[in-house]
Amino acid sequence: MTDTITIKKPFDAHVHLRRGAMLRAVTPYTATRFDKAIVMPNTDPPIDTLDAAIEYKNEILAALQHSNVLQNVRTLFEPLMTMYLTKGLTPQEIERAAIGAEGTKIYAVKSYPYGATTNSQWGYRDILEAKDVLKEMERVGMPLLLHGEVHLNEHGEEEDPYDGERLFIADVLPRLLETYPKLKVSLEHMSSAQAVDFIEKNGKEGRLVATVTPTHLMYDRRQAFSGGYRTLIHMKPLVKTSDDRERVRDIATKGLPFVFAGTDSAPHPESKKFSSCCVFGVFNSPVALELYTQIFDELGALDKLESFVSVNGPRFYGVEPSAETITLVKKDWQTTEPVVTDEGVKVWPICNTVHGLGNETIHWQIKG
Ligand code: NCD
Ligand code: ZN
Repeated sequence: MTDTITIKKPFDAHVHLRRGAMLRAVTPYTATRFDKAIVMPNTDPPIDTLDAAIEYKNEILAALQHSNVLQNVRTLFEPLMTMYLTKGLTPQEIERAAIGAEGTKIYAVKSYPYGATTNSQWGYRDILEAKDVLKEMERVGMPLLLHGEVHLNEHGEEEDPYDGERLFIADVLPRLLETYPKLKVSLEHMSSAQAVDFIEKNGKEGRLVATVTPTHLMYDRRQAFSGGYRTLIHMKPLVKTSDDRERVRDIATKGLPFVFAGTDSAPHPESKKFSSCCVFGVFNSPVALELYTQIFDELGALDKLESFVSVNGPRFYGVEPSAETITLVKKDWQTTEPVVTDEGVKVWPICNTVHGLGNETIHWQIKG
């Protein structure tokens, strides 16, 4: 039985760090566990210019420099910046961003379907309308990251939220791939059997990849509805059936070079998370690596963990996997406390014992 594992320091291909006090509180959790992370641009206002991304990156680096959590901890963490596919994003900006004008390169552009999730009000209703930008992205090799859900039908009426990803896979993604045959595409937070089928069949290193969250590996909708609706794991895409979860677990642990970790750690203040019209997003950076390890262990796939969390992501983005390592040990622990911002706002991670879903013992721990 393996009870310790050392891997290259991981790469988080999808994280929300927010801004201000929230950013200062959550960023150290990512920076101590991950070598690099692809930072999502859905802040308010959105990041849709190179200059805004540079300012945002500087805020992240400054927060790390002044962090109490990180006192005496050396971190070489590098945030890799992205831009939001808003109506304001131009082909000219893509060109500047791709060559790294001003000394900062943009690693990807993220598409949020209008109205589907947190701060998605700046997204396109139909991504295929963004023709000139997509063409330029294809030309310069800028990856497109997809929040792959269809939220509204052609009459502007809401689709069934459990069907959003299936509809996207059936209709939008094939057209997108056909129209832009050289565009690099990542289907983010894959959550359904249909997405797994599609990626299994069409996934290809450097062309079509998919990321997987710890939330979709851990939970299915039975837990989401255990004793009332559990807003702690409310996120987009919604956690789905146990069959969907099995399929996601299966593809994640196969060792495919085009499937890798993206935590989608998405912190929200306690007041918004635990309200009747709760926000979408699961904060998981304090436990994500441990949970990935636990699930790979459960499935007998620890030998595939390093490629999934530390190697495949960097390869897709054209950066080196970490030269540092991190060690995890098989040891039970629990998370009992929220992260608290310097403004006194509480942020609860997934799998905590206070708002958790029942069995909150985590079986792997980062070695101190
Ligand atoms: C994310 C957030 O809160 O920013 N929420 C989520 O449910 N995943 C946005 C997103 O990635 O959809
Ligand atoms: Zn996200």
